Amino acid sequence: MTHSADTQVKADLARLLPLVEPRLGARLPQNETVAKAMAYSLEAGGKRVRPVLCMLTAEALGQHPERALSCALALEYIHTYSLIHDDLPAMDNDDLRRGKPTCHVVFGEGQAILAGDGLLTEAFQLLAEDASLSPQTRVEAIAALAEAAGWRGMVGGQSLDLEGEILTQSGQSYDLPHLQRIHRLKTGALLRASLELGGIACEADATQREALRRGGAALGMAFQIQDDILDATSTTEAMGKRVGKDQDHGKITYPRLMGLDGARRALAEVTQQAIEALSPLPHPGSLIAWAHYLAERTA
Ligand code: IPE
Ligand code: IPE
Ligand code: MG
Ligand code: MG
Ligand code: MG
Repeated sequence: MTHSADTQVKADLARLLPLVEPRLGARLPQNETVAKAMAYSLEAGGKRVRPVLCMLTAEALGQHPERALSCALALEYIHTYSLIHDDLPAMDNDDLRRGKPTCHVVFGEGQAILAGDGLLTEAFQLLAEDASLSPQTRVEAIAALAEAAGWRGMVGGQSLDLEGEILTQSGQSYDLPHLQRIHRLKTGALLRASLELGGIACEADATQREALRRGGAALGMAFQIQDDILDATSTTEAMGKRVGKDQDHGKITYPRLMGLDGARRALAEVTQQAIEALSPLPHPGSLIAWAHYLAERTA
């Protein structure tokens, strides 16, 4: 990463994380088991990529980042729910997440399923209740988040991902276009929504919203390609989650289909597409720095 992109990302985190972190668990009661399980996973850490991108989008449009704060929190709720369910024994069966035992290891499978359900629901309640946004803006944000989170997005992608694993375990395979579809849905949709919701909160015009959708989708694809690369090359300590699992599960990934060099080339290509789509925004500097950071991240 260039020095200036690195400096920019650090400055963005220093400015924006203090807005997000204290509010993540603030709505949850301390004494209910399900709320404790929700708070446990929310507060275990995490890079907060989606809320930060959402608030940076507001800045890219010349607005204050707090304008997109409820959207940012809702995105992190949905993302954390997706991780809790992704780690369940019925899915990826992982015992470590964000450097800590997974939610179901600590609270049991039933409570972990409910913690995920609770976070999913809370995301929409939070948006519906944000009186600083107009009723129309709230409805648009809710619709865009639902599209990205549900069967048209993350849930649909996770379903295809599970089906693909069964296919490969029976000795069959699938091709790059199918892998791209899985990545676009399981991870790309929520990254795309991170930029899109920033645009909705700021009442961006149609041209800007289209740029955010295209740029966000490309960033999302890049994010999952790098996740595949890191699963094959990084360490459990650096990632805070088990690595090498994709290979163990026989999962089709970018490195598996085209080798590490091929995966890195594909990553550079989609990162460039993201940068091109986002460059026409009024103040694109931070989002472009983040596109570089996400492609070069090591955790
Ligand atoms: C992990 O997401 C799951 C994917 C969609 C690849 P992150 O890498 O953003 O996880 P946290 O939020 O930092 O834990
Ligand atoms: C996860 O993909 C995508 C989600 C919607 C959670 P992975 O299964 O590759 O994510 P990690 O590697 O466990 O974080
Ligand atoms: Mg998975
Ligand atoms: Mg997983
Ligand atoms: Mg992974």
